[in-house]
Amino acid sequence: MPKLLHLIVACAENRTIGRERKLPWRIPEDLAYFQAETVGKIIVLGRICFETWPRVTFDGRRPIVITRDRSLARPGVHVAGSLAEALALAETLPGEIMICGGERIYRETLALAPTRALRLHLTSVHAEVAGDTFMPEWRHLAWREVSRRESADANWRYTFFVLDGGGR
Ligand SMILES: NC(=O)c1ccc[n+]([C@@H]2O[C@H](COP(=O)([O-])OP(=O)(O)OC[C@H]3O[C@@H](n4cnc5c(N)ncnc54)[C@H](OP(=O)(O)O)[C@@H]3O)[C@@H](O)[C@H]2O)c1
Repeated sequence: MPKLLHLIVACAENRTIGRERKLPWRIPEDLAYFQAETVGKIIVLGRICFETWPRVTFDGRRPIVITRDRSLARPGVHVAGSLAEALALAETLPGEIMICGGERIYRETLALAPTRALRLHLTSVHAEVAGDTFMPEWRHLAWREVSRRESADANWRYTFFVLDGGGR
């Protein structure tokens, strides 16, 4: 049986996740949650996410970068040319698989849902936010809520959800 795929994302009400290669908000509690949830795990991410996360290899994280640029490989950093190649490699490594975006990687992972078990760690940011990168629609899939926790800071209201879906 292949491993459970964990997707982790913070997403606005209008599904914005990024703007100009950055997060469109600064939410320290969510950053801390993201860091804690990814420590020591296999991190599957796109080339832009990799370039904008210089400390991705800290705390035992093992990135698999999806890109055409094989020259990005170095000790502790794997490179794959496609999501399929990244997931095949991830099956051979110990530990959980965290799918960390961006947009196309989330889309292709969600498309595996009919046969592949998924767990979505969703920080729902309760605002409409301008941006240029979006979480593909996920709500048409059947999800079972594992947990939810509401929170807020001075600027944002948000809810941490864990949702299980996909699989036969
Ligand atoms: N809010 C959140 O939780 C969250 C999470 C992730 C990202 N973001 C935001 O999203 C933005 C970055 O995401 P992005 O979607 O623009 O870029 P990305 O996925 O990080 O990088 C895009 C590049 O990755 C490679 N790639 C991505 N998917 C691929 C696939 N399925 N097959 C083959 N290659 C693939 C290609 O690299 P090559 O061109 O090198 O071949 C492509 O040009 C930033 O603004 C970031 O802050 C937010």
